[in-house]
Amino acid sequence: MNANTPITEKHVDFYRENGFVQVDNMLTPDELDQLREYLEEAMHADSDRSVKTDKKDGLYYRVLNQKVNTWRDHGGMGKFSFHDRFAQSALALTGANEIRFFHDHGLWKMPNDSKPTPWHQDTPYWPINEADKGMLSIWIALDDVNEQNGCMAFIPKSHKLGKLTGIDFLEPQNIFDYVEGGQLDDRKPVVVPLKAGSCTFHNGLTFHYAHANMTDRPRRALAIIYMPDGITFSGADHAITHSLNLEKNSAIKGPLFPLLATRDS
Ligand code: SIN
Ligand code: NI
Repeated sequence: MNANTPITEKHVDFYRENGFVQVDNMLTPDELDQLREYLEEAMHADSDRSVKTDKKDGLYYRVLNQKVNTWRDHGGMGKFSFHDRFAQSALALTGANEIRFFHDHGLWKMPNDSKPTPWHQDTPYWPINEADKGMLSIWIALDDVNEQNGCMAFIPKSHKLGKLTGIDFLEPQNIFDYVEGGQLDDRKPVVVPLKAGSCTFHNGLTFHYAHANMTDRPRRALAIIYMPDGITFSGADHAITHSLNLEKNSAIKGPLFPLLATRDS
């Protein structure tokens, strides 16, 4: 295993079998302090380079107060969004030859009338052709998370079902209705409480959910989305690729999608 990552063979085996894995202490205590400060600043920055998905009091805001591409507003976020340890970990888990950055998300689940993040797969929302090439996310907890404030849950092996449909976060369909008979029998959700600074990785096809935040403080997380080699643009509209004039069916690459890790590095 690459010495620059905390990933062990056990993590790799678990990830490939189940479509998600918990990795403890991905951040050092100093990094956690710094990331909290940077993400606070980025979430409150007034800029049009990142994309905020809803205003306070909006319906989506009750599910997630979300900002996409925080690194474009805050230079310090680049240190974390392009962090070598995270990208090398993604490389080890997927077995890809390279890992490219796609985008980051500040994901805060706010207190007060908070709604759960419904069961969904991520891949259906992404403007990519290759649903089965193992695009994945790291989800880093900046606060201790549990079922009271919005920790994540996953359905083991659901990444093997292929791409289903994008779920409406405001009026969610039941994703399990799209699963053909018997395929998810005996598959129970695995709830993953985490200490701040620990993380999960999940395949873009893995069903996942986050509990509502019943506490009086925001639940803060940073997610970074990675592309293994050979991901091409489908032409579908998406906040990240909107107005970039990417050529349909061509590889997603270039200055906004830097190569972060390769098998030889
Ligand atoms: C959440 O942070 O509540 C959900 C994250 C995700 O859907 O990946
Ligand atoms: Ni998701």
